[in-house]
Amino acid sequence: MWWNNVETKPYGGYPRFWDIKILSLLDEAHKKAEIEPRWSTSGSGGPEAPYGTYDGLTIFEGAEVDSPQSEIALGYEPADDEWATPNMYEDTATGATSEAGDTSLAPTTLPEHDTWFFYLQRVCNHCNYAACLAACPRQAIYKRQEDGIVLVDQERCRGYRKCVMACPYKKALYRPTTRVTEKCVGCYPRVEGNDPLFPGQPLEPRCMAACPGKIRMQGLVKMNSDGTWAEDRSNPLYYLVHVAKVALPLYPQLGTEPNGYYIPPRWVPRPYLRQMFGPGVDEAIERYSSPDRELLAVLQLFRATQQIIFNYEIIQGPKVFESTRDGKTWEMFDDTAIGYGKDGKEIVRVGVQEPMHHRPEKHPNSI
Ligand code: SF4
Ligand code: F3S
Repeated sequence: MWWNNVETKPYGGYPRFWDIKILSLLDEAHKKAEIEPRWSTSGSGGPEAPYGTYDGLTIFEGAEVDSPQSEIALGYEPADDEWATPNMYEDTATGATSEAGDTSLAPTTLPEHDTWFFYLQRVCNHCNYAACLAACPRQAIYKRQEDGIVLVDQERCRGYRKCVMACPYKKALYRPTTRVTEKCVGCYPRVEGNDPLFPGQPLEPRCMAACPGKIRMQGLVKMNSDGTWAEDRSNPLYYLVHVAKVALPLYPQLGTEPNGYYIPPRWVPRPYLRQMFGPGVDEAIERYSSPDRELLAVLQLFRATQQIIFNYEIIQGPKVFESTRDGKTWEMFDDTAIGYGKDGKEIVRVGVQEPMHHRPEKHPNSI
């Protein structure tokens, strides 16, 4: 179950302090190479750089600086005690104190909070440049052409643990009892359409389908032959990542091109978020804080069905609400988002305004 964890930022992490440790290694490599890493947001918008360009060392180039020809990527193997406490610092906030020694947290502030924490959901990112795959001397890890899922061939694995060292997200996990490495398999039988629930229809992985918070969406996007995303305006993931630009990769500076994307929390200090999700943070928060009609409708598709939505359509509905934000009028419409499956057939239909159910007086505890 540790393949898929939720940690509390800024203090939590599994294995403990994994991100601080890999970012520190990257910092050291930059110092050694006398390079100042920079993000440039100018000229962004192209399909390969929707949020800007990173001008600095990745974990692969950092390894060249740090120890030429010895390791494929900067990394480390966590010690046993670092794997031991997955929930350490759960729900622990950070906050300004008024005086030295005063442990009280600062009262709520807006728009960013001085006292804050947030949850980071973590699973293998099935990276484009998977460091686990690159580091394995047995070629026991492979990335599937058809869906990009990264798998360990456990027959080939000999437990060398180079993958554990190299994965910057620490999502290749060695199991001492079997002496082979395991990782998230992307629920590939479901993605292939082999789940008896919907025969032949690609389904989202269980972690997505079971999320009661309705925060996860998984999809399959069209690819160009060079591995970049082909334009597909009505695919919900293409829209969220490349058009609305509200979903951002986790620590993109590491250079593996992770395929997990996050909508960043708006109450967290921006420098922390920029370090974690890159320079697209401000634009993403601005967009979803006052979402336009299309974005608000597409967001309703999260967790509306277990089937993978390949395309969507929005049918416009009546205005149902009006408010003011930052001095500007914001209007809400009860539009309907329709999701279509692999075969182009409708699989889900959901309105922006949640339906109201009146319980009958006779049976108040039923609907
Ligand atoms: Fe490999 Fe780690 Fe990327 Fe998953 S997150 S594909 S384990 S490098
Ligand atoms: Fe390769 Fe990792 Fe196994 S490096 S041999 S997949 S433990």
